[in-house]
Amino acid sequence: MRIAIVGASGRIGREVVDVLKNQGHDVVAITRSSGVDVYTGQGLERALTGVEVVVDAVNAATTDTEAVTEFFGTVAGNVQRAAASAGVRRIVLVSIIGIDAFTAGHYAGKLAHERAYLAGPVPVRILRAAQFHEFTEMMLDWTTRGDTAYVPEVRTQLVAARTVAEYLADLAVDESGAERLEIAGPEALNLAAATAKLASRRGAPARVTEVSDPATPDHRLQAEGALLPGPGAIRTGPTFDAWLDQHYPAAR
Ligand SMILES: NC(=O)c1ccc[n+]([C@@H]2O[C@H](COP(=O)([O-])OP(=O)(O)OC[C@H]3O[C@@H](n4cnc5c(N)ncnc54)[C@H](OP(=O)(O)O)[C@@H]3O)[C@@H](O)[C@H]2O)c1
Repeated sequence: MRIAIVGASGRIGREVVDVLKNQGHDVVAITRSSGVDVYTGQGLERALTGVEVVVDAVNAATTDTEAVTEFFGTVAGNVQRAAASAGVRRIVLVSIIGIDAFTAGHYAGKLAHERAYLAGPVPVRILRAAQFHEFTEMMLDWTTRGDTAYVPEVRTQLVAARTVAEYLADLAVDESGAERLEIAGPEALNLAAATAKLASRRGAPARVTEVSDPATPDHRLQAEGALLPGPGAIRTGPTFDAWLDQHYPAAR
């Protein structure tokens, strides 16, 4: 099957590419670095020639509410239009569990992403995932100042990006796949505690401090478990500790 992956070089996109290539599919990698821009639309129609399914794993470079909402809404409109004219059968979108009540930042943008896709002509399947185990790496990159990482108070049920990619690949290929699915890891966690485990394996930063800023929009939602999976969600391993052991083996 000819399948295009938007965001093919990203954290989740490259895993989807790998899974689908291993299954023998013909993968079209869509990124700006490969000359296709889904925001401006440049090169998009040509890239979708002969494509049967599009998987959208794109990300925005901003968390400013207005900019990220505009980015994802525009991307979805462009992909829908180009997909419809190329005769694409379905679009599979990776989104995020629990975002319905969020009003700001990346999560508000993802809601706009979903809604703009659902308004288009090509059928859309949405896999809402929990934060990835790899999100702890992003947390350290974003929040470390000196010898301390300042991680926001978040309840989450971290899941491996590779596992999410396997389900996205199934949704791309399987003719009878579900229209909506949620996928999370096996256990609810505190994001700062998980990030502290990663910091300890890496040997830096020395401290991970949990911070709660009432001025941050939606901070209570994140702290009180809005991002945790609902009762019908797929809950699947590896656990965060098993993922850590695999990617950051403890020194012996
Ligand atoms: N990280 C998590 O914990 C998590 C959890 C659940 C869902 N998600 C969702 O997963 C999606 C992907 O996240 P990620 O962390 O894997 O992303 P990422 O690592 O930041 O990668 C983003 C990808 O998008 C491409 N891209 C960006 N702008 C583009 C444009 N205008 N045209 C074409 N390609 C473009 C990038 O390549 P170029 O720069 O070369 O264009 C790159 O391949 C996001 O929508 C996010 O909400 C993430």
